[in-house]
Amino acid sequence: MSFFELAEQRYSERHFDPRAVERDKLQKILEAGRLAPTGCNYQPQRIYVIQSGEAMKKAVESGASLCGCPVAMLVCYDINEVWKNPRDRYFENYNCGEQDCSIVAANMMYEAQELGLRSLWIRGFDALDIIELFDLPENHIPVMILALGYPSETSRPAHLHGKRKELSETVKFI
Ligand SMILES: Cc1cc2nc3c(=O)[nH]c(=O)nc-3n(C[C@H](O)[C@H](O)[C@H](O)COP(=O)(O)O)c2cc1C
Repeated sequence: MSFFELAEQRYSERHFDPRAVERDKLQKILEAGRLAPTGCNYQPQRIYVIQSGEAMKKAVESGASLCGCPVAMLVCYDINEVWKNPRDRYFENYNCGEQDCSIVAANMMYEAQELGLRSLWIRGFDALDIIELFDLPENHIPVMILALGYPSETSRPAHLHGKRKELSETVKFI
């Protein structure tokens, strides 16, 4: 399948089947994340694989709607290992952590799709809750959660999936 087809097929899954994701598939997804580029190749991503009932409960407590997924990746970055740009005059000492984590997560999201899984990108949580509930080291900054699993019989794209702006509204050739 081409990348374009993968991108076309992907949608946010909010009705996961509870069945477990195979270990080898999880490994492949994590490997795809590992291949992602990062600022200056510093690879500051730190990934917590949420799979125990206790960890799931904590994630939900933080506000993350996991939609019954059997496994989820909490993607963080290490603030001590992220590339920072001290010369940026708009953002003071701009750090690439959110970008690094996003491209790692995107790689994992599309690898999951290729393996027949579905995903949900989640940022609707309170970061302080995540830090406290998971007792994260103070240098680990949570960015997003990627919920993963198989689709269920009731799976379907939500209405927003079909709503994309025209390129003319978001792209300017200069
Ligand atoms: C940065 C980001 C944060 C998101 N946070 C959430 C979230 O907390 N909960 C949720 O249900 N969906 C979340 N989504 C999914 C979006 O709502 C979804 O991608 C969008 O509505 C388009 O639908 P589609 O993914 O089905 O194409 C998030 C997506 C992104 C990229």
